[in-house]
Amino acid sequence: MPSRLIAVSNRIPAGEPPSGGLVVALKDALALSGGLWIGAHPETGTGREPLEEIQDNGNTHLAFRLSEDDLSDYYLGYANSVLWPLCHRRVDLIDMSAAFEARYRAVNARVGRMIASIARPEDVIWVHDYHFFPLASELRALGLSNRIGFFLHIPFPELGSLSVLSQPEDFSDWLASYNLVGLQTRADVARCLEVYRADPRAEFLVDGSVKFEDRVTEIRSFPIGIDVEDFRTQAARDAPDPFGRAAPESFVIGVDRLDYSKGIPNRFRAFGRYLETRPEGSYPCLVQIAPPTREQVQAYQDITSELEEIAGHLNGAFAELDWVPIRYIHRSIDRTVLARLHRRARVCAVTSIADGMNLVAKEFVAAQDPADPGVLILSRFAGAAEDMTDALLVNPYDIDDMTEAYRRAFAMPLEERQARHTACMEVVQRTDAASWAKQFLAVLRACVPTLPRQVPS
Ligand code: ADP
Ligand code: G6P
Repeated sequence: MPSRLIAVSNRIPAGEPPSGGLVVALKDALALSGGLWIGAHPETGTGREPLEEIQDNGNTHLAFRLSEDDLSDYYLGYANSVLWPLCHRRVDLIDMSAAFEARYRAVNARVGRMIASIARPEDVIWVHDYHFFPLASELRALGLSNRIGFFLHIPFPELGSLSVLSQPEDFSDWLASYNLVGLQTRADVARCLEVYRADPRAEFLVDGSVKFEDRVTEIRSFPIGIDVEDFRTQAARDAPDPFGRAAPESFVIGVDRLDYSKGIPNRFRAFGRYLETRPEGSYPCLVQIAPPTREQVQAYQDITSELEEIAGHLNGAFAELDWVPIRYIHRSIDRTVLARLHRRARVCAVTSIADGMNLVAKEFVAAQDPADPGVLILSRFAGAAEDMTDALLVNPYDIDDMTEAYRRAFAMPLEERQARHTACMEVVQRTDAASWAKQFLAVLRACVPTLPRQVPS
């Protein structure tokens, strides 16, 4: 039997324009390497249904149903109110609950049983993101000896913060059941190794892999990317100006799920400060596209109100009858329109306080006209900043620093814009979606297989 690829992630595409990096990148990568994609059905059920086929623009995926309690305690609860803030350095936003943790473990156990029922011994299993840290442990406990890889799309947590978990020692144990753990950046790898260094059960082998009890895991960085040619082509398409008659003179673009990790309030505040000192006679805009996400979680409701307040305040203070400085759209937009907006923008602001990679930064660069490119302002705390060092790097906590970056970006001479764009584009092309998946899968396939475990009779 040929070896199939089984990819597992909580979110799978289901017709809507995707507005999360995982689905965008994996869609591009799996389109090239093929394979089964398993994830949560967009509609809830009893939580006991078998895997179902679902359609997404001509592609078939397999979906498991979450119950309403799974949705609130596993997805909104443990995944997005504990692990997400933990990994994005907002431990103050963590909402601990024993029910969340129990449900997280239960959903992982159930998804594990479903995968075990369809996986053949030669299949390669690729698990994605923080929703499924324990999935390989579950699969190993069911007797699977397949090669199983894990890719974490978000930042790896800091050792000290892991103590907020009820059983922090489980964390290294969960990861050790994977043959390969892929992380976005070299800094993530360093944080992961620090966790193993602090664990007396771990031993470092000469090839750099970690031996943990009887299991060996390789830990490496694989910076994720986009389908560059596809995005570039969509951006350069000859189509009507997406702004129609209301085209701004010159604008900054921001595109993010409305998440507190994206640092949008300070991006707005810095833009307000820039407006105070901008060159006379200029009427720049900030076009912010921020679709809602995880709206039932209090922290997301708070950030939505905060942003609306800042946008309202700034527009009230600066707008004129024929100019509105902040255009804020609180929904998803079509990717082809998004690509063209990026190409029209003079500046893109990515100001995350923590971010696995940030694909928006790569999309902006890919969309530019190399003859007259815009400028990328990029937070030092986004994974993308590790390699894209020719962007205008900023500290998202420092409003003055970001104000100065807006000033420099709007005033930057063509030659400097071109040089910075060429350097960033080289990174975007070198780390595209196809090579990300290809490299990860090549390393996973070369890993030493796990010995079958004794299944209790
Ligand atoms: P995250 O994965 O945290 O959401 P990324 O920047 O890595 O952040 O990925 C976000 C992806 O979602 C990008 O491909 C981006 O273009 C897309 N996206 C974000 N907001 C929108 C939107 N309003 N409409 C369409 N696509 C969006
Ligand atoms: C990030 C995470 C993904 C998640 C996406 C959108 O990219 O790494 O796992 O799918 O955000 O979030 P959502 O909660 O809507 O799936």
